[in-house]
Amino acid sequence: MADNKGVDADLVIKGVSKTYPGAVHALINLSMEVKQGNIAVLLGPNGAGKTTLVECIAGLILPERGSILYRGRDLVKCPVREQIAFLFEEVENVYGYLTVEENLIYFKYLNHVAIKSGFVREYLKFLALDTKLSTEVFHLSRGMKQKLALLIALMKGTEFLILDEPTLGLDVQSRRQMFSLLKRLRDDQGKTILLTTHDMGLAQEVSDYYLFINKGRLVWEGPRSKLLELLGNEGVNLDHELPLERLFFHLMKFNDYV
Ligand SMILES: Nc1ncnc2c1ncn2[C@@H]1O[C@H](COP(=O)(O)OP(=O)(O)O)[C@@H](O)[C@H]1O
Ligand SMILES: [Mg+2]
Repeated sequence: MADNKGVDADLVIKGVSKTYPGAVHALINLSMEVKQGNIAVLLGPNGAGKTTLVECIAGLILPERGSILYRGRDLVKCPVREQIAFLFEEVENVYGYLTVEENLIYFKYLNHVAIKSGFVREYLKFLALDTKLSTEVFHLSRGMKQKLALLIALMKGTEFLILDEPTLGLDVQSRRQMFSLLKRLRDDQGKTILLTTHDMGLAQEVSDYYLFINKGRLVWEGPRSKLLELLGNEGVNLDHELPLERLFFHLMKFNDYV
């Protein structure tokens, strides 16, 4: 509801613009919100601006315009990174020359986090990393590294998580583990999650709220119910088609993408 904007929103992004050298307009006057306790999924083709937005929220890069409010505090002026955990895209989030266990110990001390006993053991098992404790990360598959990086992000114990392409490089089984982990974090622990993805299956399965961006602009947003209503009105047979993929192409076509 329009008059409900801002209520219960953990993250409020208002009019954010970011231009890279060479006049690359990665974000153009982008406004959006992430409500508390939701999994919000940011979808968009390559180059849409998803990672740029994540980096602006993390304070790694500064937007020229706009504000990014986390629970009322402007992250552009005053980053509060201790309250948000990030999983960044395609970067080494973990140390290759340390073992899985050494990474866990290192980040625990680095972040000064007090971890409840059993937490790490439980998640290691859940993510099928419990047999890899003494393996150097260098020898892990990309998907395993991704899962370890997620576990390290979770160890910060924040209520808000931002994950950039969390299923990148995961095999079918690990991808499923990721799906259930994300739902468990929301349903059992009340976490709020913003994730970016190309993975329509992930978006379809876990998302409460969809945000489509293209060429730095928000082109469609809405909850799952609005998405189904929209597609139903267009005569899409929801029994036979993957609605998200259909909407994605519809929006991209509308925006002169294909
Ligand atoms: N460091 C950078 N320098 C210049 N251009 C960049 C940089 N990072 C991203 N871009 C450009 O900004 C646009 C948005 O990129 P990005 O945020 O990575 O999109 P996405 O994550 O949706 O694929 C693209 O056109 C990309 O080429
Ligand atoms: Mg990206």
